[in-house]
Amino acid sequence: MPSEEGSRLRSIKGMKWTKYPHDVLPAFVADMDFEPPQKVSEALEDMVRFRDFGYRFVDIDGLIPAWVNWQKAQHGLEVPEEDCKIFTSSIHALEAVMVLNTQPGEGVVLFSPVYHPFATAVSQSGRRLVDVPLRESDWKIDMDRFRDSIDGGTRVVLFCQPHNPTGHLFSQTEIRDFAEVVIEKDLLVISDEIWADLIFDEIPHQPLGTHQNNLRERTVTIGSASKSFNLAGARCSVAYIDHFATREKIDALPEHFLGQPSSFGAAATVAAWTFGENWLNETKEKLKINRDYVYGQFLNSSVNMDLPKATYLAWLNFSETMIRENPSKHLLEDAKVALEPGSKFGSQSSSFARLNFATEPEILEQVIERILSAI
Ligand SMILES: Cc1ncc(COP(=O)(O)O)c(C=O)c1O
Repeated sequence: MPSEEGSRLRSIKGMKWTKYPHDVLPAFVADMDFEPPQKVSEALEDMVRFRDFGYRFVDIDGLIPAWVNWQKAQHGLEVPEEDCKIFTSSIHALEAVMVLNTQPGEGVVLFSPVYHPFATAVSQSGRRLVDVPLRESDWKIDMDRFRDSIDGGTRVVLFCQPHNPTGHLFSQTEIRDFAEVVIEKDLLVISDEIWADLIFDEIPHQPLGTHQNNLRERTVTIGSASKSFNLAGARCSVAYIDHFATREKIDALPEHFLGQPSSFGAAATVAAWTFGENWLNETKEKLKINRDYVYGQFLNSSVNMDLPKATYLAWLNFSETMIRENPSKHLLEDAKVALEPGSKFGSQSSSFARLNFATEPEILEQVIERILSAI
């Protein structure tokens, strides 16, 4: 590990570098090892310098305008500010919208493997999980299975675009077919698009809310700076809610019911969305080099992976290796590398593990070397 960067990483209190003993290299949780944009640090440093810790709403009020500008500049999504709401995290937004639009026992669809708090949100709220596994050959939605899985008590679909953990991007055609089922079955889509800024190879992001027919008015789009700018601790998220009934339900709640981000998180987030473009572009360059490196290293090995089109996650398939049963456990014990267990993302994924490659090349080289020696 490079010494200066290594000492910063070993000094911070984030879970990535504190959960495991010092001899373990962490590549599990989706935090990057890169420092966020300088303007973000400056915004927070100013608050500390002036001890500006009182009631302070300027950045909280600035969150929606900053997000709307960012969406337009980055993805061409025209979002009316009055249709947006602030939440304290993306999963907060997802849970609130899902709970407001379903009754206990009603069905909520997801496409596994998928970011594991989706399934937890469904089960902890007493909703019924309708899992429609993606096709393992290409990570596409099995549309017939999707259509057949929906009964009269299914109300909501949880969508993740770009997709965590596979790095898959659902194509225009897939989204068109998906929209057909959604409209036919009268579903509400909660579209978690917090990885949208991290797509490689100049492929444009397709916000679900910009798609044809009546998809937009039945979609809630969730955005956040947490992945793009390495700000998961900011606890801020903005949702674009074109679904009128959801906005009405939120507006009917007491004012403080859904909570509010702190002024620190809001200041950091607004600074990122306002000044972060160059930083993001440079970071994407680094991530792309890392992605290609990881792909190249596993190409002729018994570990299989598809080239992620987005995110900084590699979804590794160990089914042709000696450690196919719970590979992340073996790798933690024998290789001292911490990956995210595949089984968390879907019961069919127990021979997979998710690797976070958003780190310095020297660290990544060691991570890959340790995995390759262990298999
Ligand atoms: C798809 C997806 N949604 C939500 C989150 C969590 O975001 P937040 O911390 O804003 O709830 C993550 C974190 O990695 C994620 O990958």
